[in-house]
Amino acid sequence: MNHTVSRSSGFLYTTILKPVFFAFDPESVHNLMVRFGTQLGRVRLTRWLLKSLWAYEHPSLVTQLNGVTFPNPIGLSAGFDYNGELTDVLPALGFGFHTIGTITLHPYAGNPRPRLVRLPRSQALLVNKGLKNRGARAIIANLKKRPFTIPVGISIASTNQHFANEKAQINDITTCFKLFEKSPLNHAYYELNISCPNTFGGEPFTTPSKLARLMVQMDKLKLQRPLFVKMPIDQGRAETLALLKTLARHKVQGVIFGNLTKDKANPAVHPDDRKTWLRHKGNVSGQPTRARSTQLIRLTRRQFGHRFTIIGTGGIFTAEDAREKLAAGADLLQLITGLIYKGPQVIGAINAELAEHRPRRRVTVSRVKN
Ligand SMILES: Cc1cc2nc3c(=O)[nH]c(=O)nc-3n(C[C@H](O)[C@H](O)[C@H](O)COP(=O)(O)O)c2cc1C
Repeated sequence: MNHTVSRSSGFLYTTILKPVFFAFDPESVHNLMVRFGTQLGRVRLTRWLLKSLWAYEHPSLVTQLNGVTFPNPIGLSAGFDYNGELTDVLPALGFGFHTIGTITLHPYAGNPRPRLVRLPRSQALLVNKGLKNRGARAIIANLKKRPFTIPVGISIASTNQHFANEKAQINDITTCFKLFEKSPLNHAYYELNISCPNTFGGEPFTTPSKLARLMVQMDKLKLQRPLFVKMPIDQGRAETLALLKTLARHKVQGVIFGNLTKDKANPAVHPDDRKTWLRHKGNVSGQPTRARSTQLIRLTRRQFGHRFTIIGTGGIFTAEDAREKLAAGADLLQLITGLIYKGPQVIGAINAELAEHRPRRRVTVSRVKN
């Protein structure tokens, strides 16, 4: 990575490209970017060019966790590449890992539009996709054609539909995991998304008793890769600790704090954006999730020591935001909204600053054992 090129790219993105993108419908821009990114990733020359311009590599950034080697701690969070089309281009942008999904057993066309709205005064997005994706079988068939060059994770949740009962819903989730376990893909980890707020029937597994029943069935799968659970961020301290205690009794290697915020009273949401939120369905990413996710990371590290690998996500736009989450106890970080507001050079820029100011210690936690 060249620092001058990175700074100029950031300037060009925020002053020229972003205003143009932000003049159009966010979902159409996202779809265009995914198509463009897929094409860029197919050509060796553009991959090399992107990598030389923006990606930053340094031995101090390499992190080993749960038997997986992450070239750096900054990953793409679930929800951006929900059909797994960007596996070729993301390593060239400098990502250290990448979560595909959330994927469900059956395809879902998405909640009615608009399902993505920008909240620029709050540096946030209002999301109501409802786990739009092509379904596990189609995604596996497509991913089989491509090797992964950085650790890739598969995020799984129950299909966004009505279930006759809890058993049927759990069966939907475990069947999806089994498809990936049996597939020839060389993915590195799983995420279990129990906290998508935009689905039919809400978040069914965010109470300890229901979560415990899900985890009993998950344990039976004897997954060959680490499992990280994507947590809600709007629950209180006691409720969060109760969920963590439940998870600590099962074959779960890590937790991710966390998902979108549903809290319309969140003080980080600008009053004008709050009015927009009141007019649309959905929940919020970006800056309004930052403080809460950091608090829950700190709580988890203090109460559970190194029982869990912790992935911090929510409002990471700068190296300062990244350091805040690492200092609170996160081992790895993920982002989406920062990429959209700051531009693709932001990954390398954050990594470069992390390597410069805070050489990371290596953390090694044994693979898939609890
Ligand atoms: C457009 C969009 C779609 C998302 N979809 C998912 C999803 O399918 N599964 C999931 O676990 N999280 C999803 N999320 C939440 C993100 O993974 C992340 O937890 C959250 O946005 C906070 O990170 P950020 O502030 O860097 O965006 C989505 C977020 C956005 C912005």
